[in-house]
This record gives sequence, structure tokens and C-alpha cells, in this order.
Amino acid sequence: MSEYDSGNPLGAGVAADAMKYVIDQGWDNYTEEEHETWRLLYARQRTLMPGRACKEFLQNMDALGIGDQQIPRFTELNKKLKALTGWEIVAVEGLIPDAPFFQLLADRKFPAGSFIRRRDQMDYLEEPDVFHDVFGHAPMLAHPVFADYIQAYGQGGLRAMNEGVITNLTRLYWYTVEFGLMKTDEGLRIYGAGILSSPGETVFAADSDSPNKIGFNLKRVMQTKYKIDDFQTSYFVIDSFDDLFKQTYQDFGPIYADLKAAPMKYAPGDVLPDDVVLQRGTGVYAAEAAERKKQAQG
Ligand SMILES: [Fe+2]
Repeated sequence: MSEYDSGNPLGAGVAADAMKYVIDQGWDNYTEEEHETWRLLYARQRTLMPGRACKEFLQNMDALGIGDQQIPRFTELNKKLKALTGWEIVAVEGLIPDAPFFQLLADRKFPAGSFIRRRDQMDYLEEPDVFHDVFGHAPMLAHPVFADYIQAYGQGGLRAMNEGVITNLTRLYWYTVEFGLMKTDEGLRIYGAGILSSPGETVFAADSDSPNKIGFNLKRVMQTKYKIDDFQTSYFVIDSFDDLFKQTYQDFGPIYADLKAAPMKYAPGDVLPDDVVLQRGTGVYAAEAAERKKQAQG
């Protein structure tokens, strides 16, 4: 993404516009029940993480002082986060459009939902809440290399908007920032926020023999569709954060040209002849999920 380092191809107005989406967290307005929801989510998730989450994630969670008792105050969290990597969490109201989203990331501001899910949504909700955004994302924003990676992603996103390749770039974010796995000396470990804020997917991604686990390949990932409403059928595995940054810190122009010339779209469960396959999934979970869907519709 190096070609996107300086300036903003969409114009200076976008930077100012992005800040219009930032709201006050309204910490004083959280109810005791909402803090209790945080406690329940935190306790459940934390017990699942040893041996499944990467050690950088767990270390940074402690370094940031993300506590188990109440929804963190962004102002307090940001003091530590800014000191570590210059990032900060900013509250936004729900999902925001692409341009301000990319702009905030390019400015090292991570847009976070300030609301917390209801008790009947403990296992899944589509819109990111404060548990997903803070518990899931803040620890990796405190990692120096990953911090640079997400900023570069924001810068690349601004350019991609002009090129009509947002979908491809979104897949990169999805399969790394949200659902990434990494090789470590102890075995594969999770670093993706979408997995680590979901108890079901934490266990599934780490322990199940159903999903594919495939070595990360930039262009391949950009061509692969994903599921937004169920566990992933394939996970992509990076060698290290340094390697992820190295693979993505490049001029995407030639890749975009290739993708436009041959917009190959792989299904989530496809395994290709050139893939480095770390686990060839049985696909049992995905097949059962498809069957359930069919019956529900039929
Ligand atoms: Fe997220």
C-alpha cells in the first residue's frame, strides 16, 4: 500500500467529514445491566482464549488494562493505546460509510460502536458493538506492526474507492483483521477480532476439523468471498505480522489491474491447486449449515 502513503486522493474535505461521524462515548449513560453484560461476555471469552488466541493479543489486552468489570472508558484506554502506537478508539454511531471509515483508519482512529449488545444477542449480532470493537480490536491496535498495517489499509482504502476495487480490499480486511490466524511455535493461533469476540467461532476456528486453513496469499484472499452470517468455511494463515505487512505494503496497482481483467471469485470453501493447505477441512459444519438454511426456507 506504499503508493498511498501521502495525501488523500479523495480530497482534504474527506478528513474533516470523517470527524463528523465521531460522537462522545457517553460512558456515564451505561446502565449497571450493560456493565454486567460486559462482565459476562468478558469472562466467557477470556476462559476460551489461552491456547487459542495469539500471545500478542493476550499481552496487549493486559498492557491496555482492558478490565473485566466494566465497559472501558475510551478516554482512559486511549491514554495507553496512544502511548503504545499512536492509535485511539473513537465512538461512532453504528456503521459509517467507506470514505470516513478509511479516513479514520488512515488517521489512526479506530471507529467503535459505543452501544453494547442485548442479553438475547450474546452469541451473535451483525453490527459491531463495544465488546467486539474494544475487546476484539484494541489489543491488535497496540501491536506496532499491526498498527501500521491497519493504517496502511485505511490509506489503501481511500485509493481503492477511486479504482472500484473496494470489494477486493474488504476481503483482505475480513480475512486478516477480522478472521485471521497465524502460525506460531506453539501451533496456529487466532488474532482476528471477529473470531476473538465470538466464543463459538473461537472454539470452531481453533479446534474444529471442519474449516479449511490455508496459507495467506494476498491476491487469492482478495478473490475469495466470505460469509457474514456464519462461521467461516476457510481461514487464511499468516506466517507473522511482519510477513503480512511485507506482503501488503506494496503497490496494489498491478494486482487491481489483474483483478479487473479477470475478476475470479472463489467460493468461501474452495481449495485451489496452488494453495498451501494447512488443514483440509471436512466441510461438515458448512454442509450442515447449508442444509439448515435450505430447510428453513423450504
Ligand atoms: Fe470488527
